[in-house]
Amino acid sequence: MALIMAAFFIFSLFLLYQPFTSNANLHQTYLLGSQLLLNNSNPITKDIPVTTFFQVTKPIKLPKTKPCSSLVLQHDFGYTYGKSPVLAHYKPPHDCPSQNFSKIVLEWKATCKGRQFDRIFGVWLGGVEILRSCTAEPRATGIVWTVEKDITRYTSMLKEPQTLAVYLGNLIDSTYTGIYHVNITLHFYPAEEHPQHRKHADLESGYDSPAHLILPISRNLPLNDGQWFVVQNSTDVQLKKFSIPRNVYKAVLEVYLSPHQNDEFWYGNPPNDYLLANNLTNTPGNGPFREIVVTLDDMVVGAVFPFTVIYTGGVNPLLWRPITGIGSFDLPSYDIELTPFLGNILDGKQHEFGFGVTNALDLWYIDANLHVWLDSKSLETKGKLIEYYSFPTKVSLVSNFSALNGTFFTSVQRTLNYSGWVESSHGKVMTNSFQHFTFTNFMHMGNSGNLQILNQTITSNHTVYHNLPSYIYTDTLYQSFPLYLYTDNVDQGNNSYMSVANLSLGFNEESQLGSVTSSLKNVQSGQGYMIVKGNLVTSGLGSTQQVYKYVGTGDCFFRNVSSSNYTVLYDKIHLCSGSQRQGSGFRFGRSQPFAARKAFLEEIGI
Ligand SMILES: *[C@@H]1O[C@H](CO)[C@@H](O)[C@H](O)[C@H]1NC(C)=O
Ligand SMILES: *[C@@H]1O[C@H](CO)[C@@H](O)[C@H](O)[C@H]1NC(C)=O
Ligand SMILES: *[C@@H]1O[C@H](CO)[C@@H](O)[C@H](O)[C@H]1NC(C)=O
Ligand SMILES: *[C@@H]1O[C@H](CO)[C@@H](O)[C@H](O)[C@H]1NC(C)=O
Ligand SMILES: *[C@@H]1O[C@H](CO)[C@@H](O)[C@H](O)[C@H]1NC(C)=O
Ligand SMILES: *[C@@H]1O[C@H](CO)[C@@H](O)[C@H](O)[C@H]1NC(C)=O
Ligand SMILES: *[C@@H]1O[C@H](CO)[C@@H](O)[C@H](O)[C@H]1NC(C)=O
Ligand SMILES: *[C@@H]1O[C@H](CO)[C@@H](O)[C@H](O)[C@H]1NC(C)=O
Ligand SMILES: *[C@@H]1O[C@H](CO)[C@@H](O)[C@H](O)[C@H]1NC(C)=O
Ligand SMILES: *[C@@H]1O[C@H](CO)[C@@H](O)[C@H](O)[C@H]1NC(C)=O
Ligand SMILES: *[C@@H]1O[C@H](CO)[C@@H](O)[C@H](O)[C@H]1NC(C)=O
Ligand SMILES: *[C@@H]1O[C@H](CO)[C@@H](O)[C@H](O)[C@H]1NC(C)=O
Repeated sequence: MALIMAAFFIFSLFLLYQPFTSNANLHQTYLLGSQLLLNNSNPITKDIPVTTFFQVTKPIKLPKTKPCSSLVLQHDFGYTYGKSPVLAHYKPPHDCPSQNFSKIVLEWKATCKGRQFDRIFGVWLGGVEILRSCTAEPRATGIVWTVEKDITRYTSMLKEPQTLAVYLGNLIDSTYTGIYHVNITLHFYPAEEHPQHRKHADLESGYDSPAHLILPISRNLPLNDGQWFVVQNSTDVQLKKFSIPRNVYKAVLEVYLSPHQNDEFWYGNPPNDYLLANNLTNTPGNGPFREIVVTLDDMVVGAVFPFTVIYTGGVNPLLWRPITGIGSFDLPSYDIELTPFLGNILDGKQHEFGFGVTNALDLWYIDANLHVWLDSKSLETKGKLIEYYSFPTKVSLVSNFSALNGTFFTSVQRTLNYSGWVESSHGKVMTNSFQHFTFTNFMHMGNSGNLQILNQTITSNHTVYHNLPSYIYTDTLYQSFPLYLYTDNVDQGNNSYMSVANLSLGFNEESQLGSVTSSLKNVQSGQGYMIVKGNLVTSGLGSTQQVYKYVGTGDCFFRNVSSSNYTVLYDKIHLCSGSQRQGSGFRFGRSQPFAARKAFLEEIGI
């Protein structure tokens, strides 16, 4: 039925023999979002229901208490592009019978109808970013989606009245008609009276509790867009001054980031010598490696090799309906341990963070939250940086190309290793923070630049040891992000061509936080094609499969789901025994399609 498929509209289509037009250029965004979207102007049949889009993730583990919930923002995002963020007054839930919350959940729910791009948005509380996300692209018949995020780590912000700010730069005209109708609700879950067993020492030290104070490392209100810093090129470093209280004993910097425009598909950007040799002046380059570098008073204190989030309009928008790309509805943030550096900044004076992106093209949205833990038993703590190894990034590139065909292999390693002590009422605690990253990117360009094959793997190991007097508190996160992306444009004659895309995208994690360990394997595969004629994609199809396997201490979740052409083909969910006992203790949101909820209920035998 042409009723549903209709055609796409593309802003500006690059020449056929321009390389990786396929993904990069077709979808290259220019501030406003992706260039591909459905032409939803065909007549609508009334019986087509609103489609629920969703991101596959594990349900949030909840205490068995009744939450206090409040709608903190209700807004229709029409023409909001370049305007100041939408603001609301947040007040803590003082009328809630208990004020001791063990879980706090943010629920973003939105509907949209018509035609619209994927839009990046941010939610801030007192300048502290608590959600970075991308909107779903609507259909003519309407869509709805929900994002639920555990925001317990921001508890200290939520205890005080704050300004809640949301920036979602949307654009409305006669073509792009989709208005995003949004509700943000917060759910506060009081702690259970008999809490789960925690290691006594963890409790005492507070090392595994939410921070006592969070300092926003973001742009100040009022302003005419998000509170993000904008990094526009490889030498651009965005700076922010701050100072901390004098009794901090632990500090973690949480970094939020998202690439756009010329770097939205950074992992597919070819090396500049290839572009130069082929006179490709309008194609984004600088090669496929990007790294976010964080400095403190000009000293490198941490790095991020980011996950390759594909937004809802990316590569082929039909791949992300209704199963969205990993991380696209809730972009990951990245923690950098700063405790070893506390000795440098406990003087009560101003210091300065810097954010840069190696090889960056215009643009990256970056900001951060500085989480600090305060010593309730002293007014001043002391500290000293003892060891500091920041090995320069080692990049190797092997290039072999002839005109527009060729292969490129980029590999990168980075190691950071710091130790420092902090003396507080917890004793003289030595903290060692170790970050190790690897990046490999194999890029093949064939079919005279119309075919691109990427095979990339990023790994990141961030291990922290706090040597407390009685035991060693370990906090380690090992991540691996595999990406395989095949895109080809095949000339169909008659001024049209077919764009084919196959991909596999993985987000895998092994973590240990004190006595809690977990393992996640989350892999998505997608196959899509689109027929493009002139500026229009006249037809197409996207299919996506995803397998999500999570096993944690006393907790586990499996999901195997597949969709094609907007329809969920199968959806199998399994919670293992440890979790079944929790039963209703999971928040299984409306983001899950009905079939999934049904499957869930069957599994646990209700
Ligand atoms: C997608 O589904 C619609 C009906 O919902 C159907 O008309 C169309 O042919 C399907 N497209 C493909 C490529 O199978
Ligand atoms: C959208 O589709 C309609 C009906 O097929 C067509 O008349 C119109 O030109 C298309 N609009 C765009 C912008 O492609
Ligand atoms: C937002 O909340 C209002 C009031 O409860 C409700 O009428 C509206 O449908 C909700 N909108 C969304 C997108 O959930
Ligand atoms: C909050 O609840 C937890 C778990 O029941 C308990 O350990 C803690 O002492 C409580 N804190 C306060 C301030 O009541
Ligand atoms: C990089 O970006 C900064 C900030 O916009 C700008 O001042 C600078 O001129 C740019 N440098 C280059 C080499 O383009
Ligand atoms: C690139 O442009 C130069 C100058 O316009 C021209 O001499 C050269 O042949 C072009 N090279 C290619 C590969 O098109
Ligand atoms: C470069 O590519 C050409 C053509 O594919 C191939 O014949 C040649 O062996 C390659 N050279 C190297 C050093 O890999
Ligand atoms: C990091 O440096 C410390 C010395 O401060 C050393 O003992 C440790 O082995 C190093 N860790 C790694 C993983 O290289
Ligand atoms: C590139 O490779 C294709 C086959 O994949 C071949 O048809 C074409 O002639 C090659 N182009 C150049 C410039 O070597
Ligand atoms: C990607 O590269 C890895 C090794 O780097 C290899 O094991 C894997 O088979 C490749 N994947 C594909 C689909 O070619
Ligand atoms: C991460 O680094 C730590 C410290 O060097 C090491 O003990 C651990 O084995 C590494 N983990 C992985 C999965 O490589
Ligand atoms: C080529 O395009 C013209 C005009 O859009 C159309 O009339 C014709 O049927 C097309 N031919 C093929 C083979 O698609």
